Amino acid sequence: MSQWIDVAAEDGIFEGAAIAVTPIGHDIALYKTEAGEVFATHNICSHGHARLCEGFLEGHEIECPFHQGRFDVRTGQATLAPCVDPIRSYPVKIEAGRVWVQL
Ligand code: FES
Repeated sequence: MSQWIDVAAEDGIFEGAAIAVTPIGHDIALYKTEAGEVFATHNICSHGHARLCEGFLEGHEIECPFHQGRFDVRTGQATLAPCVDPIRSYPVKIEAGRVWVQL
């Protein structure tokens, strides 16, 4: 059963940056692009145990801090080796300045 969870204040994420949130035991990275769009994915790289919230966000891609593989934060698809397997992405909505993620 999916549910929407209030996970963060929208202004708690800088543009071009990521933060980690852990609603009810899920490890999720929230990203805000330079254009102000917010996306959410699983926080752990599919190639190793790196935390993507500590990576480098460029456009819609997050670069893993361990081996510089990349994922599209909109879909979770791997876009650059050594990342091959996708990571889970989560629907996001913004309401009254809060970021909600659908688990
Ligand atoms: S752990 Fe992320 S690219 Fe290797």
